[in-house]
Amino acid sequence: MGVVPAGTAATAVPATTATAVPASTGRPYVLLSCATSIDGYIDDATQERLLLSNAEDMERIDAVRAGCDAILVGAGTIRADDPRLVVRSARLRAARQAAGLPPSPVKVTMTARGLLDPQARFFTVGDAEKVVYCASPAVDTTTELLAGLATVVDAGDPLDPARVLADLAGRGVGRLMVEGGAAVHAQFLTAGLADELHLVVAPFFVGDRRAPRFVGDGAFPWHPGRRARVAEVRQIGDVVLTRYALSERCAGGVPG
Ligand SMILES: NC(=O)c1ccc[n+]([C@@H]2O[C@H](COP(=O)([O-])OP(=O)(O)OC[C@H]3O[C@@H](n4cnc5c(N)ncnc54)[C@H](OP(=O)(O)O)[C@@H]3O)[C@@H](O)[C@H]2O)c1
Repeated sequence: MGVVPAGTAATAVPATTATAVPASTGRPYVLLSCATSIDGYIDDATQERLLLSNAEDMERIDAVRAGCDAILVGAGTIRADDPRLVVRSARLRAARQAAGLPPSPVKVTMTARGLLDPQARFFTVGDAEKVVYCASPAVDTTTELLAGLATVVDAGDPLDPARVLADLAGRGVGRLMVEGGAAVHAQFLTAGLADELHLVVAPFFVGDRRAPRFVGDGAFPWHPGRRARVAEVRQIGDVVLTRYALSERCAGGVPG
């Protein structure tokens, strides 16, 4: 699989340079992406998917996706949102193909219980490879459930995100975009496994404690005594993107 150089900012047209994952880290460059309301919610408490980004920001997200080798969401997000997780722009898909890459990045998820719907768009939309990291006790049932739809990988018990990243590196993934949800973002952040955070704030409140927030409680490496670095702030229509550099691997440059 071709890869974008780890640690470089995503560009509107994916880079063509093939690189290896840096030996110093042994894991892909990890970019977290999330949209919240002004009061920090990532969804409301209804069954409907809450739209936080606007059309222009969706285009930006599409370009960031196109610059990555793989996109990861938790099983909870597949169940709640049924996302497609493909590059939508024909121009960006063509640019990836011209660079010798598949039209869309590999789709990745993590599950302990293996409660995934084989009809979910994660599995049925697009030709991208799908990889499911599953906790050991549920591997057999999940492999049977997703036969022909995804590669199911035994990721231990309990499932360890660092192990997921090491395995993805072994599959040639140099740049990973993590698109949520709350549990997955919290794990990558608290484990110190994130290089960059794209946080978009939509101009409204949810105001309902039953709704999920960006992350829950946890021991985060960034706190009042260790502040994260703001790499960029950008207004995109009626939303604001803040790009936080969470490791020295994050360049200060402006992404797509
Ligand atoms: N605004 C945004 O940018 C955005 C983006 C994405 C999602 N969301 C929202 O986020 C919410 C979903 O978040 P969520 O926290 O419920 O779900 P999530 O983080 O997407 O997924 C959590 C699930 O992933 C699996 N998982 C995660 N870490 C694991 C580990 N270490 N070991 C084993 N399994 C692991 C488990 O699946 P099993 O239960 O199958 O074992 C767990 O229940 C939805 O409301 C969605 O709309 C918002």
